[in-house]
Amino acid sequence: MISKLLLGCVLTSMPILILGNSLRDDDFADLRGPYCENIGCCSSRRDSCSVPIIGTLCYCDEFCNSTRVNDCCPDYWSHCRGIPFPEPAPPPLTSCKYKDRALRQNDTVQDNCNKCVCERGDLMCEQNVCIIDSNIIETINRDPENFGWTATNYSQFWGHTLDEGVQYRLGTLPPQRFVMTMNPVQRIYDPNSLPREFDSNLVWPGLITGIQDQGWCGSSWAISTAAVASDRYGIVSKGKEAVQLSAQNLISCDTQGQQSCSGGHLDRAWSFTKAYGLVDEDCFPYVARNERCTIKRRGTLEAAGCRPPVYSDRRGRYTVGPAYRLGNETDIMYEITKSGPVQATIKVYHDLFVYTGGIYKHTDLALNHKQGYHSVRIVGWGEENTYRGTIKYWKVANSWGTNWGENGYFRILRGENECEIESFVIASWPHISRRILLSNEVNII
Ligand SMILES: *[C@@H]1O[C@H](CO)[C@@H](O)[C@H](O)[C@H]1NC(C)=O
Ligand SMILES: *[C@@H]1O[C@H](CO)[C@@H](O)[C@H](O)[C@H]1NC(C)=O
Ligand SMILES: *[C@@H]1O[C@H](CO)[C@@H](O)[C@H](O)[C@H]1NC(C)=O
Ligand SMILES: *[C@@H]1O[C@H](CO)[C@@H](O)[C@H](O)[C@H]1NC(C)=O
Repeated sequence: MISKLLLGCVLTSMPILILGNSLRDDDFADLRGPYCENIGCCSSRRDSCSVPIIGTLCYCDEFCNSTRVNDCCPDYWSHCRGIPFPEPAPPPLTSCKYKDRALRQNDTVQDNCNKCVCERGDLMCEQNVCIIDSNIIETINRDPENFGWTATNYSQFWGHTLDEGVQYRLGTLPPQRFVMTMNPVQRIYDPNSLPREFDSNLVWPGLITGIQDQGWCGSSWAISTAAVASDRYGIVSKGKEAVQLSAQNLISCDTQGQQSCSGGHLDRAWSFTKAYGLVDEDCFPYVARNERCTIKRRGTLEAAGCRPPVYSDRRGRYTVGPAYRLGNETDIMYEITKSGPVQATIKVYHDLFVYTGGIYKHTDLALNHKQGYHSVRIVGWGEENTYRGTIKYWKVANSWGTNWGENGYFRILRGENECEIESFVIASWPHISRRILLSNEVNII
């Protein structure tokens, strides 16, 4: 039953509640009439000037609003007095909108990397910075000529925060001071004799480690170390000791001062490799998590439960000489032509995550966002002619899978220490098996 009193409320304030039940917009639309429009407006008070409305009567006479209870028909104001209907009531306070979806109180929705909850009509969202930021992507793609590279939305990064990206897609702890002061090696060469373009993949086909995907494990310190060591084993032995060394060996067993999937120091990674050596990937495959060291820390390959290689007399693990640092652009280039890819540490800005091709240079679109250190493998270099002149670049192997960037690689500005890439470049010499070394068929620096 609806009372005149309630009906009065309907007319004057368009309430959203009748007898405690929620009155939805479409119910309300039914109440709009037409009532007075059908019977006409009457002057003075006339009981006959009325229309049934949900179990009672409403009036269209001149005094319907002056009685003790207001009992005018819903369209009295618009039809008889020329006062337009008030705007439809705002949606009930408990509902929210997300894109085209209506949400109710306490409903949650995931907006990229942020969780949102509907609270008393407001959609309250977490305020994390997400890896995929459509602003960055659109700005770069609006003017790729100017930026020199293009950007895209990677599904593997969608829904993740930038903090997660920095913590679990990078993984190189800042170099420690004593390493930064490590003296670069001195080599005698003619910088002008270096080729304009160089790609390890073309020079040593089949001997260069493929692109890996570190997954959500901050292990670039281990992946790049194992890959540079592997490449050099293959190159220096002219393929006789081609091997893919195990990054998991480092993640799981090189634990002193290291943080497994939360990052590691490169100098420690190299000194571990020098002291104990690594086993091959098949023997200790990558699992992208902090798995305990399931092999003996030291001893022969056999002691580690690995099958010794068929084509060499190797019994011990794959060790390397002391790591050395390369001090400038041409030293790095010369080193690569002689002995293969080198390891570099870069400062990763937010925008690198969405790189999809071109010559990368960090933009100022997100300079105040979180940054981190990452280690990668420089495999070559080149030059590209653009309308702004010749741009020099490094070709770099990343560890974010082959669907990222240029088949897993990226090109980055060369010679300007872009992202600090030329600040901390390291390499090491492999300890080729004695018999192969004695056969005198290996590269000598
Ligand atoms: C009736 O409506 C008129 C015109 O809007 C207004 O001036 C008057 O105050 C109303 N009377 C009552 C009792 O609400
Ligand atoms: C919404 O959540 C709050 C707190 O979690 C709770 O007190 C309230 O009863 C919930 N409301 C509804 C409509 O579920
Ligand atoms: C990015 O990709 C994901 C799925 O791969 C998609 O759900 C999302 O809408 C895309 N975002 C943008 C801004 O294009
Ligand atoms: C790098 O250093 C070497 C000496 O180690 C020097 O001969 C060379 O010219 C330098 N190259 C650049 C680009 O500064």
